[in-house]
Amino acid sequence: MTDAGLFLTFEGVEGGGKTTQMRLLVERLRGLGYTVVENYEPGGTEIGRQIRRIVLWAANQNLSPTAELLLFFASRAQAVDEVILPALAKGCIVISDRFTDSTLVYQGYARGLGRDVVLALDKVACRGLAPRLTLCLDLDIELGLHRARARNAEDAHEETRLDDESLQFHKRVREAYHDLSRREPERVKLIDAGRRPEAVAECIWRLVEPLLPRL
Ligand code: TYD
Repeated sequence: MTDAGLFLTFEGVEGGGKTTQMRLLVERLRGLGYTVVENYEPGGTEIGRQIRRIVLWAANQNLSPTAELLLFFASRAQAVDEVILPALAKGCIVISDRFTDSTLVYQGYARGLGRDVVLALDKVACRGLAPRLTLCLDLDIELGLHRARARNAEDAHEETRLDDESLQFHKRVREAYHDLSRREPERVKLIDAGRRPEAVAECIWRLVEPLLPRL
């Protein structure tokens, strides 16, 4: 943890509207005068974007589960050093679209690599940095995948290796997020993303507002 700044993350299943909600929150905070630094994973840095291409490119079907795990952490380590820690040290609010919880649920749980290996790598890559609050957008899997796949088809998206996984895989992802929120109820908040975007944004705001530093 860090004394200065505030570190928040967005998490959730495919198609839950994470990106839209993150944009709404960032705009609201900036409107109030906060300095907000955004990160996304994998890919929040130039090096991370190169890693993102390898790990999400649909054609890389033979990427091994362990290589996949290490690539997600390689991208994260770069973002922690280059973007997140320096911004927190300056007192900024940092918001990341996905972080280690994604690796816990997708690789640790859904792929079956286990929680321990993910937490051990987290210690190396993040050196104790953990989000103060994690906003986890929760949605029925069939509905979420339908939304995500429609979006992928629309823009001829090639970064679909994970979206293309089976329904069963994505159901395990959702279960794992629920498990995470039971383990850490103070930090990981499940948010019903099936509602109107404005209602979801209001729910998020009620969780974030009490944590904001005084301007
Ligand atoms: P993202 O770009 O957030 O796409 P979306 O918002 O459409 O889900 O994430 C890309 C994919 O990478 C997503 O399927 C989740 C997966 N992922 C992991 O499997 N492990 C990780 O550690 C991270 C950060 C993402």
